[in-house]
Amino acid sequence: MKAAPHFSDKTANSNSLRLAIAGLGTVGCGVIKLLQEQASSLTDRTGKQLVVTAVSARDRTKDRQIDLSSFRWYDNPVELASDETIDCVLELIGGAEGPARDLVEASLKAGKAVITANKALIALHGKELAQLSKTHNAPLYYEASVAGAIPAVKIVREGLAGDIIKTIGGILNGTCNYILTTMEETGQSFEAVLKEAQEKGFAEAEPSTDIDGWDTAHKLAILANIAFKPLQFDSLTVEGIRSITASDLGFARKLGYKVKLLGMARQHQDGSIEAWVRPCLVPEKAKLAQVDNVFNALTWEGNYSGPMTISGRGAGEGPTASAVLADIIDYAQGMRLPLWGRIVEQEETAARSVASLKSAFYVRLLVDDTPGVMADISAVLRDQGISVHLIAQHEFKLEQVYLTVITHPVANSHITDAAARLRELNSVHGAPLIVTIESLC
Ligand code: HSE
Repeated sequence: MKAAPHFSDKTANSNSLRLAIAGLGTVGCGVIKLLQEQASSLTDRTGKQLVVTAVSARDRTKDRQIDLSSFRWYDNPVELASDETIDCVLELIGGAEGPARDLVEASLKAGKAVITANKALIALHGKELAQLSKTHNAPLYYEASVAGAIPAVKIVREGLAGDIIKTIGGILNGTCNYILTTMEETGQSFEAVLKEAQEKGFAEAEPSTDIDGWDTAHKLAILANIAFKPLQFDSLTVEGIRSITASDLGFARKLGYKVKLLGMARQHQDGSIEAWVRPCLVPEKAKLAQVDNVFNALTWEGNYSGPMTISGRGAGEGPTASAVLADIIDYAQGMRLPLWGRIVEQEETAARSVASLKSAFYVRLLVDDTPGVMADISAVLRDQGISVHLIAQHEFKLEQVYLTVITHPVANSHITDAAARLRELNSVHGAPLIVTIESLC
């Protein structure tokens, strides 16, 4: 039987679920389209008619190529929370504070289900929102907040619930992955690729949340909270991709690596959790190294299931809207899970400092091409107990060359101390670049 799409509260009845959508950007409009296109199969899956009754957005007059005339319009999204004809609020505004947070909190307090794609909100305020959800018996869904079309939340919270996760993370930001891929392929600078990406609409006009690693950190925090235990968000180490040059990508490639912005979290034997976002060299044969352009990848290792990596589109209308629809179906089918998948609540703890974490490192230095420079650099590395795996010299300009060093595994604190001392050498120009080599992918 083919069900007709229903998009007005005039058609609402006990077999209907009445939805409100706050935020009519790419994802919000995508959700409306998918609800229309899939009306029949959604009714088959849920036994209900899914009815959009109200919408809210900043600009009512904007041409969205969607007929909004049958929806009640709210200028103030927070008022959706007190509309008694609405069962479930879809928060697709974005941002950890302001109207998005106000709407989600007010809706949960009013006992309404909430579906959100807002990673910053969940990562920063998950604890309070989980409490509100529990107190008011109002479910909160957020599948679309992590890695778009990749069902990351479901994989970790439901699919891997019977395993002990040792490592979780991956490539969680398509903008950074696109920029790094394009820099490597074209040899263009970070600034040039970013500008071009902004012109093409692949990068935000205000790109710092993406390129400084915060978007990845929000998604990683959510994954780590589910996989391990709730972490204090401000204890994560977060570094973006601004310091990576096209030359670094070329040098890394010659050494058999690609550079990726990774967000990774690991549980140690003493129960501590490492959780960080930073550019990393990954072996070019690793699965993560094959994931290029705007694609995201989720990688994990379970104690029982072993290592797995999946990749897919992490943003955009179809990928993100389909993840929102999966949450609508869960809600309509009566799926109710605690926010982090654990009934017994745990206190937030700090992620361990990266200072004590050991790995191999890539070090890139611009140095004078004169006798004794190598001896000075070696002395600094020796004094910090850093053993060199290989060293290479790359021509730059008359009397200056780049040196790239791959170290044996060493504590992060030793390499940062060494970098500070290398910077003080007269023969070293500018700050050395230090990049972690992440082999376990
Ligand atoms: N800005 C994100 C990215 C998509 O570039 O991957 C939404 O999380």
